[in-house]
Amino acid sequence: MGCASEIAQEALRGNFRCACGDLYEVTYPGWSGAGHTRPNPSALRWLWRERRMSGEAADRSGVWRFREMLPILKDERSIVSLGEGNTPLFELPRSADRLGMTLLRAKHQGMNPTGSFKDAGMTAALSVAKERRFAWVACASTGNTSASMAAYAARAGMRSLVLLPEGRIAWGKLAQAMDYGALVLQLKTDFDGCVRVLAGVVERAPVCLLNSVNPYRIEGQKTPALEIAEQMEWEVPDHLIVPGGNLANSSALGKGFLEMKRLGLTARVPRISVIQAEGANPLVRAMRETGGERLEPVEAQTRASAIRIGNPASWRKAVQVIRETGGFVEQVSEAEIAVAKAEIGAEGIGCEPASAVTLAGLKKLRQQGKMTAEESVVLLLTGHTLKDSDYTIQFHRGDLLTEPESAPVAAELGTLCRNTVEMEARVDDVLRELERAGR
Ligand SMILES: Cc1ncc(COP(=O)(O)O)c(C=O)c1O
Ligand SMILES: [Zn+2]
Repeated sequence: MGCASEIAQEALRGNFRCACGDLYEVTYPGWSGAGHTRPNPSALRWLWRERRMSGEAADRSGVWRFREMLPILKDERSIVSLGEGNTPLFELPRSADRLGMTLLRAKHQGMNPTGSFKDAGMTAALSVAKERRFAWVACASTGNTSASMAAYAARAGMRSLVLLPEGRIAWGKLAQAMDYGALVLQLKTDFDGCVRVLAGVVERAPVCLLNSVNPYRIEGQKTPALEIAEQMEWEVPDHLIVPGGNLANSSALGKGFLEMKRLGLTARVPRISVIQAEGANPLVRAMRETGGERLEPVEAQTRASAIRIGNPASWRKAVQVIRETGGFVEQVSEAEIAVAKAEIGAEGIGCEPASAVTLAGLKKLRQQGKMTAEESVVLLLTGHTLKDSDYTIQFHRGDLLTEPESAPVAAELGTLCRNTVEMEARVDDVLRELERAGR
């Protein structure tokens, strides 16, 4: 990504970085030109749909049924799958109404085996690690990567090392890593500090690094783009909105849509916009202050702990995707995130706080006149609501936001907050509450 040098797969170093310090991206030489090695779009669409009926786990996986788009394994027997992908594309009619939009949908990547979008990338990178006969895999994580990696490592009979920022991840995610048998180390630092320590560890120990600097993660993580296109009969939405943390997901989805267009699977690409929390906004700053030429790390602060990342590894890839697709970047406040999360919950869908920045960001883009009522929009929801129940309960109890934070959204809070009611175990009392709630 930094100096445009190309290497063969075997020459990739353990830190997945080029001598210039930047990241690699997987490219497939057979796809250029019109030669016989170039996949045939109609045949592929048919094959991918047929595979969903197959009895083979690899065929049913929402990642590996598209394996012609990620030919990264030498032997398909290396595949480690938990039945990832094939996630729902939900309509959000109430939010669409409020925003005066015709069609708003949510691709819910939280409906994956470990409850987050990370599974799509993890099955790819972990299968490569297994094929290369690594005994150990490792990651630094804001929570979801560790839960996903630990699960896939356990399935493969491999060991996993997890570095977490102490006290700053949601309990649900920590519980998952523990349950899947990872060696979990909570370091007295933030996510960016964990990344730095892990870089030193992979230099000296034979562990395979599974953070998203590992380009095979991106190959798996691009497959939701294929699913969205398939779910829309090979049309694409006008606009896809993605949360931004380490910026791998936006990069991966961009790669997926751009490759589909290049191969003739789709006629165009959606705008891809990235939304960050105000307190963890290095990309927003980079775009506003330098047009995406340079990125200054920030000290990240947000209750959406999954995107509390100040020095995103994949920022160059994300900038390229935003430029190539004509997308926007925007930032949203803590209160805007909390309200948007409750609104998604009220649609019967739910998501974790970091995912809700998409709806909060969409509202801003609409206000700024950056999209019309007729544009079809897909929000990419990244994590399941059960990942961070503490956040949700605090929100509904009114304990989440400070007074200055809640003031601008007081009206929304009034209709969305649903605290529990404690009462005597009497029929009359329950009936009284029922009546009050129905008024
Ligand atoms: C739930 C959730 N949403 C969004 C993100 C951000 O994705 P990315 O780091 O690829 O930008 C993460 C992880 O970092 C996450 O766990
Ligand atoms: Zn380089």
